[in-house]
Amino acid sequence: MPILFNEIDNTITLTTKNSSYQMKIDKYGYLLHTYYGAPIESDMSYLIRGFDRGFSGNPYVAGNDRTYSLDQLPLEYPVEGNGDFRLTALSVKEAGVSGLDLLYKTHRIEKGKYSLKGLPTVQDQETVTLSVVLEDKAKGVEVELKYSVIEDTDTITRAAIIKNVGEGEIILQNAASVSLDFLYGDFNLIHFQGRHAHEREKVVTPITYADFSIGSRRGTSSHQHNPFVIIADKETTEDTGSCTALMLLYSGSFAFRCAKDQYDQTRAVMGVLDERFDYSLLKGEEFVTPECAISFSLNGFSTLSHNSHKLVREHITHGPWALKRRPILINNWEATYFDFNKEKLIKIAKQAKELGVEMLVLDDGWFGHRWDDNRGLGDWFVNEEKLGGTLSSLVEEVNEMGLKFGLWIEPEMVNEDSLLYKEHPEFAFTLPGHKPIRSRNQLVLDFSQTKVVEYIFNMISKVIDSAHIEYIKMDMNRSLADVCSQDCSQGKVLYKYTLGVYDFLQRLLNRYPNLLIEGCSGGGGRFDAGMLYYTPQIWTSDNTDAIERTLIQYGTSFAYPISSMGSHVSAVPNHQTGRITPLNTRSVVAMVGSFGYELDLNKLSIEEKDEVKKQTDSFKELYEVIHNGLYYRLTDPTVNKEFVSYLNVTTDKKEALLSIVTLSTQGNPLNKYVRLKGLEEDINYYNSFDKKVYKGSSLMHGGILLPYESGEYNAYQMHFKAVN
Ligand code: GLA
Repeated sequence: MPILFNEIDNTITLTTKNSSYQMKIDKYGYLLHTYYGAPIESDMSYLIRGFDRGFSGNPYVAGNDRTYSLDQLPLEYPVEGNGDFRLTALSVKEAGVSGLDLLYKTHRIEKGKYSLKGLPTVQDQETVTLSVVLEDKAKGVEVELKYSVIEDTDTITRAAIIKNVGEGEIILQNAASVSLDFLYGDFNLIHFQGRHAHEREKVVTPITYADFSIGSRRGTSSHQHNPFVIIADKETTEDTGSCTALMLLYSGSFAFRCAKDQYDQTRAVMGVLDERFDYSLLKGEEFVTPECAISFSLNGFSTLSHNSHKLVREHITHGPWALKRRPILINNWEATYFDFNKEKLIKIAKQAKELGVEMLVLDDGWFGHRWDDNRGLGDWFVNEEKLGGTLSSLVEEVNEMGLKFGLWIEPEMVNEDSLLYKEHPEFAFTLPGHKPIRSRNQLVLDFSQTKVVEYIFNMISKVIDSAHIEYIKMDMNRSLADVCSQDCSQGKVLYKYTLGVYDFLQRLLNRYPNLLIEGCSGGGGRFDAGMLYYTPQIWTSDNTDAIERTLIQYGTSFAYPISSMGSHVSAVPNHQTGRITPLNTRSVVAMVGSFGYELDLNKLSIEEKDEVKKQTDSFKELYEVIHNGLYYRLTDPTVNKEFVSYLNVTTDKKEALLSIVTLSTQGNPLNKYVRLKGLEEDINYYNSFDKKVYKGSSLMHGGILLPYESGEYNAYQMHFKAVN
């Protein structure tokens, strides 16, 4: 049984293949967090020792026992107002007074995985669910903590449902998904910061006595921070050491906080952002937190990432595309921007088809009077003048060539210069009496209202119904300001907005079950596990520069699988950086992702076209090892600025793809080496690059001597195959 209640010592232990998680109902009814780490079997509360500590108060129920204090105990779901002065997960106000004290009421263990109303969750048919109910009788508050065990990925999922079981209104001022206490240890926090076109750069921050927080106030998970963090022992490496990942399945404003307390214990709390969050619950109402998936690895970051990749691919992303090979696409954005017509698109498609591409994606500018990015958002009807006819006639022509067809949308937005805004200005967020904040000249629609979601969905589905659309790129190109709804109090809007986005996506998938959706938010501004539930891939960044992409894809790979990262070969000089890189380098970088092109292939020379044909053939051949294999980061580009290297290995270890990208070139160069990982020691591997055979043990312990050629930004792929 992956979840066991021991009625003798009142512990509940959750077990995955390589981890155990334990809580204990103590003598006073408080729910302690007694353990999380490598597998154990007995009551771990022997590790806890209370002291009579000054200024750490004692709950009344403990009588004269001055060693029992909630300010020093590891707690499963700490609350504000009961003498625990650390970071807390829940804060509730009633009639202007905050303060809560939660005690165990009951628990149950049932077959199957719980779901959370309106929110994406991890799926697992085989699992069991633990529900622990805590209560504050005086306040009329019940909290149901939910847990499931995803054994094959060493993951435990958590969420909380907060219920008003009293008479009056209560206001939630904070309601986190998870709190995790570590009794001792010295940790680094690994988090992923960035900005538009520079997403998810890995940052390592020691956890100290200062409250540390990251998160987003932007209404989306954001380019700036990612709702995925790792808490690691300081000495943890890619291959050794303990680390714990927290992955929030949520795409809106969020917060992660952590700190070491006065007794050197560490607490981490993660969930929806508590700023601009005042969530009122009337009698009988409840609030459901997003789910957080936590996982533990005793063997460093590689294993943690492998588990996380598997979790996303096999237990989060749902629908037929989760594990299926995605078509190699050509997107017209960087090829034409808004300056396209049918003739241009057909020309791009024809050339792409000849070179092995499988789908044309028509990006921004096909609808309303969207001649540029100042107008037209919200008017989801085809601009037949621009397309030289109906969308279906264009799609038919593209399909006849043997290509699939995909379309760009940005449903959450409206331009003031649009018919939608003229008819329904009240659909857009605005603060009463204020002029709205514009961003890219657009305003945000109030998706916290179902009627707005429905309205936009109906318009867009008419377009999808009108032609054979097999893919949608769902974009979102600004942060939320002026967050104020006509429909609900301000403190609920951001959460309800995110649920509105999920509602829109679920409607799309219900109506078009075979549709492949690619998420996007100015590139990777909403790259999170919540979106990945609906969209198997996400445009990783608007930055298509191969060299900068190595850093962005490196950071992204800690949490999210290769198949989730939309990555394209684009033109040089690169449109974001002006850098010129070889065509081969651009494909070595883009291929380890959901592969595509974003340039006018007609503009290439005959030799370059031949090269593109080889690239698409090669991706089709290498797909299995790239998407279904295990991914290893062999260098850290935040440290090694000379070259970056990564490796994909099939799970049977019979095939591997080594990629190397040169970041800087020197005269009179040193020899450079890289050691491979995850191979079989005794297998001989044939290397397609130098046509030589190497033993697995040689490749893993001795490594490979990197090729050297003069010139900048050269890249190499070495395909290893087991031979006997
Ligand atoms: C965003 C996306 C781009 C492109 C443009 C279109 O920036 O990230 O890929 O779709 O919008 O306006």
